[in-house]
Amino acid sequence: MTERKWWKEAVFYQIYPKSFYDANGDGIGDLKGITQKLPYLKELGITALRICPFYQSPMVDNGYDISDYYQVNPEFGSIEDAEELLQCAKRYGIRVILDMVLNHTSDQHPWFREACADKNSKYRDYYIFRDDISKASQFRSIFGGSTWTRTEDGSWYYHTFAQQQPDLNWENPGLRKELYTMINWWLDRGISGFRLDAITCIQKDMSFPRVEADGADGLCDLRNYGLNVPGIEEKLRELKKETYGRGDYVTVAEAPGIPGERLEEYIGEDVFFSMIFDFSYTDIDLEPGSPWAKMRRWSLEEFKEKLFRNQRFVSETGWAANYLENHDQPRSISKYFQRKDIEKYSDQMAKALGTLFFFLRGTPFIYQGEELGMRNTCFSSIDEVNDVNSLGQYERALEEGYTRQEALDAVNRRSRDHARYPMQWNGDLNFGFSEGKPWIQCGQTCGELTVERESVDGQSVLSYYKKMIRLRNHSPYSEVLIYGDLEEIAPDPDIICYKRIRGGEEVRVAVNMSGKTLPFAEMRQVLLSNYEDPSGAALLRPYEAAVWVE
Ligand code: GLC
Ligand code: CA
Repeated sequence: MTERKWWKEAVFYQIYPKSFYDANGDGIGDLKGITQKLPYLKELGITALRICPFYQSPMVDNGYDISDYYQVNPEFGSIEDAEELLQCAKRYGIRVILDMVLNHTSDQHPWFREACADKNSKYRDYYIFRDDISKASQFRSIFGGSTWTRTEDGSWYYHTFAQQQPDLNWENPGLRKELYTMINWWLDRGISGFRLDAITCIQKDMSFPRVEADGADGLCDLRNYGLNVPGIEEKLRELKKETYGRGDYVTVAEAPGIPGERLEEYIGEDVFFSMIFDFSYTDIDLEPGSPWAKMRRWSLEEFKEKLFRNQRFVSETGWAANYLENHDQPRSISKYFQRKDIEKYSDQMAKALGTLFFFLRGTPFIYQGEELGMRNTCFSSIDEVNDVNSLGQYERALEEGYTRQEALDAVNRRSRDHARYPMQWNGDLNFGFSEGKPWIQCGQTCGELTVERESVDGQSVLSYYKKMIRLRNHSPYSEVLIYGDLEEIAPDPDIICYKRIRGGEEVRVAVNMSGKTLPFAEMRQVLLSNYEDPSGAALLRPYEAAVWVE
């Protein structure tokens, strides 16, 4: 019997504060902006927020490079603004979890500056320095280029991500203690838990073994040595015990490198995290270790296999964090559907993808703008791109012999900026996001998708999201849709179909992933459909999605 928990019943909404709403008109979204939009979020029906980092940061990686964990970056506001946001959210019955980055800091963090300035400082060992790396591994950092960067005194430091994000040395007990104090300080501010950023990176093979290069850059993929390395268990156990293990907090881990069959060691009541984000189907178009430019072919069959495999593994042990979009992913319509059909069916497609992930077993995580059906933008030159990962990927593609056009095409397919251009509130200047000049360009391809317009249209994607939330959380079917088991049904190869079952009750979900009309089962009572006139007939129209009872 699954234990009841507030976070299992929650519907999460993920916010990228820089692009959500700019309250003071300087072109950058801020915490006051989030507070002002709480009524919108309440009305949407979500019950919890996950907010991307707003700590003090030089913003090389938009806040994932923290220079002071205890401060709010001035462009987002102040600690008082954070407290006000938490209090207001509480009044609305909305819980808040923060993104916590523990694998690295910014190179501007006083610890790192001190570590560089004085080799004998205690902070030197908070990071990973080597005087000589001639015999050490030459790994490729996640954003491209070596994981080793040279300091002024000639020594080298290790970074899994950008060179401005030096990795912390989790072997140092003093460092761990400082991190725990800081985490507890945030928990005491009244938050409900954390998304743990890149948490499987904290343990590495500190012998940094020499490994053969696998790319034109002379570097090698770090996956086997810098992700989820044995020994991590003790660190995660201690982290939990010293911090969020103290209360009824939720943790959702960004945990690359955990194979499905080992999930049970990580999620569940007595293990490390409440939930884990699965990448297997959201990164299905990427070849692990290769530049984005090397497109990976995938089939719907493979997608289904990955989706349901994750559901199987987590249903045996824990609880899933279901999502299709976040601040690192391009918008999903462009990823999962054929380009030729997008203009005609974008509306159905957005609702179909929503239906697909929202009713899986687990907690749904919506990403800002997904509920409007926002789509990828288009970059005509690499100069228009902000995301450090996209810039690194572009360079790497050129190095690997791709043409400039191919490298740019890859960025257009995959850039994280697609999820980071401003939220579209209304038809005013900058879609109502800001009265100033936005820090990043506004979207060009879906200007009609705004909160204002969709709020008054009963058939909009936004209205559909509201209906999904109501059906899952406030309907006679809530119990089965939240806590029910999941069983895959395999009708046509182009249809994704499953049922949720609990105590003799059953609800079915089907999504036609193709542009064809397909024969299908009779649907007795349709609870939700992405077409205006639910057919109920024995067929599914192009990209039709339905939730029904047999
Ligand atoms: C995670 C974040 C991503 C960030 C990286 C480094 O993958 O989701 O946005 O760039 O960690 O902190
Ligand atoms: Ca602002």
